Amino acid sequence: MRLNGKRILLIIGGGIAAYKCLELIRRLQDEGAGVRCILTRAGAEFVTPLSVAALSGDKVYQDLFSLTDEAEMGHIRLSREADLLVVAPATADLMAKMAAGLAGNLATTALLATDKPVLIAPAMNVEMWSHPATQRSVQTLEADGVARVGPAAGDLACGETGPGRMVEASEIVDAVADKLGGAGLLAGRKVLITSGPTREAIDPVRYLSNHSSGKQGHAIARAVANLGAETVLVTGPTAETVPAGVQAVHVESARDMLAACEAALPADVAICAAAVSDWRIADEAGQKMKKSAGAAPPALSLVENPDILATLSKPGPNRPALVVGFAAETENVIDNAMDKRKRKLCDWIVANDVSAGTGTFGGDNNTVHLVGADGVVDWPTMSKAAVAERLAETIAGHLNGKRDAAE
Ligand code: PMT
Repeated sequence: MRLNGKRILLIIGGGIAAYKCLELIRRLQDEGAGVRCILTRAGAEFVTPLSVAALSGDKVYQDLFSLTDEAEMGHIRLSREADLLVVAPATADLMAKMAAGLAGNLATTALLATDKPVLIAPAMNVEMWSHPATQRSVQTLEADGVARVGPAAGDLACGETGPGRMVEASEIVDAVADKLGGAGLLAGRKVLITSGPTREAIDPVRYLSNHSSGKQGHAIARAVANLGAETVLVTGPTAETVPAGVQAVHVESARDMLAACEAALPADVAICAAAVSDWRIADEAGQKMKKSAGAAPPALSLVENPDILATLSKPGPNRPALVVGFAAETENVIDNAMDKRKRKLCDWIVANDVSAGTGTFGGDNNTVHLVGADGVVDWPTMSKAAVAERLAETIAGHLNGKRDAAE
């Protein structure tokens, strides 16, 4: 049984293919999964709540504003207690709402509130599927890291022929198993991640820092923990919450960050996503520096901070098997990243453009290039969560002997 102990939240959308969900529930259960269902209002036009409840062996959730449902199982818990959310059939309407981040009913609210992977099985008329609006939704959902199975091509219920048919229940079960099968890919490995900015004190009330929000580094910690790694996140000050199952060490300065990283060794993998200040103040003032009338502003002199990535990459018994740096560049992104990889002796470097207007610092999306010894792979613009998942899967593939960064 490939899905033993896994919990699936199945969201049944409003399309003729909804009838296939009855078989899907059975097949997921046959593989050992527990299935809880949300039936949309349109979905209930095609299958009855009674048949869904009878097959799933659980209550069917339908109403965002149901006092009894919310009292028993709030919509947040409903989406968080699952290992995976499956949307089948994913109609054009549901996909457009997901892509736009709308949350006007129980299904879309659960989808927006979840921190778990989502798999969609689209089904619709062929013209609806190929419509630019639907294709825009598909692209947005892909960039958000939503997995998709289908649609298949063939005769459609509307009498037309082409892509738009929901794939069979057995194919959805295979896609679910693939998606959740990755859960143990980094089991038994320890991964150290740095995230966020550092703060270098000028005096007790002022500091030097940068715009890093920690979104990218924290997303990586979440993604590697989801693949089963023992995860240590050394983070500068951020507003991000520490992902479940991740051990966090909170630091302020580059020197604190280096000490925390060294204390976390040995590790199999180190990923340096933090924006570490290259310099600190040479003489940090013990008391708040005072402004006095007529006096010139103080001249701050800087000294170089230790380089954490270069330190972790140094050959030696404690060197992680794979060290991955990030390169934040505002020009010549790839060339500078290649040069940085060589200078700092790390194995891979993830290059990203942080120039004004990209929104990389603090934003939700990132466009990265994975630079390894064998070359460069350009990734499409994705959410930081999707970048993190892809990086975690690439690392797992490398450690498990499947491929290098540039393959
Ligand atoms: O936090 P977000 O708002 O989500 O933004 C994400 C990000 C832009 C911060 C992230 O994607 C990123 O690019 N992180 C690296 C930022 C950086 O400091 O880049 P750099 O090119 O200056 O440094 C190269 C590498 O050396 C990085 O891995 C950095 O962590 C490391 N470094 C730098 C200086 C230093 N003293 N010690 C280091 O370890």
